Amino acid sequence: MGTEEEFRTKVESALAQPKNLGELEDADAVGTVGSSECGDMLRMWVKFRDEGGRRVIDRATFQTFGCETAIAVASVATELITGKTVEEALNLDSQALAAPLGPLPPLKIHCAQLVEGALRSALDPISSKQADVGAVAPTLLQSFQGDGVAPKKVVLRTSHE
Ligand code: FES
Repeated sequence: MGTEEEFRTKVESALAQPKNLGELEDADAVGTVGSSECGDMLRMWVKFRDEGGRRVIDRATFQTFGCETAIAVASVATELITGKTVEEALNLDSQALAAPLGPLPPLKIHCAQLVEGALRSALDPISSKQADVGAVAPTLLQSFQGDGVAPKKVVLRTSHE
């Protein structure tokens, strides 16, 4: 099996049961980014816990209007950063966050960069004390809605399909 085929198989496997999908209630931080390359968006929520005097990531979740690769990378990345400090998580670049899926095909690198961007957007404001979870819309859907616009939900995929 070639590298690209292995990558596709791992993406499909991650998509079959995406981990940490959805809004995280009581998140300590949230970051949202859009890709200038494809127009997709991804939001990540992060919650911390104290572990032996260290503040580590207790859980991270995501929502996205993004491609399958972005969903798969976000799924493995949210698992990868659990238990890490902010500094440790920020040391992971897009390739490291996507590492469980194998090397990224060149056309998919920006999908992992979308995940890295959302993570940095969530974690950087915290260190500079600029994070304000309450100031952002709780869901991506609400980010796109103007006042008085009836909500429309788009189901990208369910775990039962
Ligand atoms: Fe847009 Fe993958 S094509 S994130």
